[in-house]
Amino acid sequence: MGWLQNTRRRLIAKLYKPLIRRHDRFIAPFKEDLFRGVAGAVLEIGPGPGSNLTYLPNVEHWVGVEPNRFMHAQIEAELSRLNLDGTILEGVAERLPFEDQTFDFVIGTLVLCSVASPADALAEIRRVLRPSGRYCFIEHVGAPRGTPLRRWQRRVRPIWRCCGDGCWPDRDTQESIGQAGFARVDYQEFRAPPGTLPAIVSPHICGSASQAD
Ligand SMILES: C[S@@+](CC[C@H](N)C(=O)[O-])C[C@H]1O[C@@H](n2cnc3c(N)ncnc32)[C@H](O)[C@@H]1O
Repeated sequence: MGWLQNTRRRLIAKLYKPLIRRHDRFIAPFKEDLFRGVAGAVLEIGPGPGSNLTYLPNVEHWVGVEPNRFMHAQIEAELSRLNLDGTILEGVAERLPFEDQTFDFVIGTLVLCSVASPADALAEIRRVLRPSGRYCFIEHVGAPRGTPLRRWQRRVRPIWRCCGDGCWPDRDTQESIGQAGFARVDYQEFRAPPGTLPAIVSPHICGSASQAD
């Protein structure tokens, strides 16, 4: 990895938590609801600084796969603060270093906007989930097609991706999850209110996808 990439990742790791603080506060009730019942062996893709760990008191063992190794110290600190059993690995969701059917739950928040291939990441999520397993997600997504917001998302995409660590503002992630082969997908749509995130990434989905009906 080049020094420029390292410097960029180090900076993101430093700035991410303060930048996302207001969104974190807004999203807390969604997470409490979504992660209630998450237990057993849990994989989190793209945990960033580990902000979701506080919602996972019943987890037996947590594994995080996070490509930005400069985030890892914050995750370790959070694991130890919460006295949780966990392991953090450097890697990407598109190539998960686990056997088939390893986890009871896979969770991910604000991650599929950034992965290189949502389809590959979702195929990997399905592969590592047990037959009774569930994938729980919160993602910001593309606005409905044909709306002014969707056109703005398209226009700003190049600069947004450049400044936002590869984040796409206009991915139809609900369609990707729907096409991934899960037996059942349930989600709600909502908008993050002004002051929490820029309007360009305000449309969100929150829900879960099950391997079995
Ligand atoms: C917007 S942050 C979200 C962090 C955290 N999940 C949250 O909700 O605050 C996106 C995270 O996804 C990670 N990420 C980017 N590409 C990834 C990939 N291909 N696989 C797994 N994680 C990835 C980034 O390093 C970053 O930590």
